[in-house]
Amino acid sequence: MKVAVTGSTGFLGTALMANLRADGHEILRLVRRPPQAADEVRWDPRAADAGLGDPEPLHGIDACVHLAGAGVANRRWTARYKAEVKASRVLGTRALAGVLAKLVPQPRVFVCASAIGWYGENSGVDETAPAGQGFLAGLVREWEAAADPARDAGIRVVHTRSGLVMGRDGGILPRFAPLARFGVCPGLGPGTQVMSWISKSDEIAAIRFVLDREDLSGPVNLTAPEPATNAEFTAALNAAMGRPYLPWLRVPAWLLRLAIGEASVELLTSSRVTPRRLLETGYEFRHPAIREALPAELARP
Ligand SMILES: NC(=O)c1ccc[n+]([C@@H]2O[C@H](COP(=O)([O-])OP(=O)(O)OC[C@H]3O[C@@H](n4cnc5c(N)ncnc54)[C@H](OP(=O)(O)O)[C@@H]3O)[C@@H](O)[C@H]2O)c1
Repeated sequence: MKVAVTGSTGFLGTALMANLRADGHEILRLVRRPPQAADEVRWDPRAADAGLGDPEPLHGIDACVHLAGAGVANRRWTARYKAEVKASRVLGTRALAGVLAKLVPQPRVFVCASAIGWYGENSGVDETAPAGQGFLAGLVREWEAAADPARDAGIRVVHTRSGLVMGRDGGILPRFAPLARFGVCPGLGPGTQVMSWISKSDEIAAIRFVLDREDLSGPVNLTAPEPATNAEFTAALNAAMGRPYLPWLRVPAWLLRLAIGEASVELLTSSRVTPRRLLETGYEFRHPAIREALPAELARP
């Protein structure tokens, strides 16, 4: 299979590329800088034609996995940065979807990264739930809709609504693991808020699963079947480091809001997201529970 990948330099893109290559698949990397290798093509997420005036290099791709976008948790959410995050995701997806729609033959599938931010605060949802409230929910709604040109052209489009991905080299784990190593990893806010998470191994395996499953299209939640409260996550991380969990060691919600502003909603919002479609289609989770996921991921090379 020949797979075009955007965001291939990122946390998930790097792992996905290695995983696909290990199984003999061919990768075409869409990069924003000048290409440096034969398997790279330059694209511009802000250009209407994705900067791919002549999409010749994309001819013959079987699939496209679109992971690119300015980081949601990387910076303070100023009005300017919010606009940048939104533009990078909505414009890039729309442009890419338009290019894929015109390819002959068309790719079989367009897998677009998405996020459980779609649901906003909730006490239990699956893929049938409507979009929630707030900046993230609005962003994800527009980001998913931007894939319409590919959908309208008859391409199978999958939106992988990922939870917090647990891997040692990206996402939230490297921020808290060093604190846990020294026995000072705090809980956040009340600690009762539910975090829907997925191990990096499952994230990559689930992307491979949706690439192959012709019967899956639309939103697919990439979350472990056993969500954890923030207190359970903190206890599991401390245990993975051989440290005791100190329930009194907490960063109050107000202090977190003061320190990182509106971006704190990612850590304080309670969201219990069920991976209903993965379970219904027979995906088998490698790490269903946080207590065994964290040591396994922290031990990976
Ligand atoms: N990690 C998680 O916990 C998580 C959870 C839910 C959803 N997701 C989503 O999954 C996707 C991949 O996540 P990730 O953790 O691998 O992200 P990441 O490490 O931040 O990588 C994203 C990639 O996007 C490209 N990029 C950066 N800024 C950009 C901009 N302004 N415009 C366009 N492209 C830009 C970069 O690749 P190039 O330099 O190669 O272009 C970057 O490596 C993202 O869309 C993310 O929102 C991740």
